[in-house]
Amino acid sequence: MRRKLALALAAVALLISGCTREQWHRFPSPDDLVAAIPWFAVMHRGIAIQPYKMPRQPVEGTVPVTGIEVVPPAIPQNRSTLDRLSNPVQRTASSMERGRDRYEIYCTVCHGSEGRGDGPVAPALANAVRNLTEQRQVDNSDGWIYGTITNGFGALMPEYGSKISPEDRWHVVNYVRLLQGAAQ
Ligand code: HEC
Repeated sequence: MRRKLALALAAVALLISGCTREQWHRFPSPDDLVAAIPWFAVMHRGIAIQPYKMPRQPVEGTVPVTGIEVVPPAIPQNRSTLDRLSNPVQRTASSMERGRDRYEIYCTVCHGSEGRGDGPVAPALANAVRNLTEQRQVDNSDGWIYGTITNGFGALMPEYGSKISPEDRWHVVNYVRLLQGAAQ
């Protein structure tokens, strides 16, 4: 009798020591027994919603309460279409202030606080970052700059269409104009 008990204990010890950490926590889990009953199993196998996971996708055709954006043509950028986009946001002090706020969050790292293409990340990009105060950039239309922010540019500048709201992108355009004026 004693030998049998010792053997059984040894077997259990072996079984447990072979368990992974996760199995160990589950062993012996009443959950496993409950799941064997079909009626409960439904709950046992329910799809868990992960934190940070969107519980549900919006239905197709859902429009945000702020309205939908007319998306400028993607890369390669179509210059004539972008040039025809008119800036709906007046270049007021408060617009440029909002633009400065967004510019410093999203653009300064590469383009530098004065727009000269000398942000802290520029050397890592082989100094390919454009100087936004150059005449060539001054000559670009508001729509073109808006399109550049929305779609990104070339291989090195990421798109900000998914990160900065359409209205804020126009504020950034207005702020870029202010930087260009300051550099003249
Ligand atoms: C990760 C670095 C990086 C960030 C951040 C970045 N840019 Fe750029 N940007 C670049 C590079 C690099 C180029 C040049 C790309 C090329 O020539 O292929 C460029 C080019 C441009 C151009 C010139 C387009 C042209 O016609 O020559 C504009 C305007 C511009 N960026 C505006 C912005 C604005 C506004 C922001 C912030 C919303 C921003 N960029 C954020 C790297 C960046």
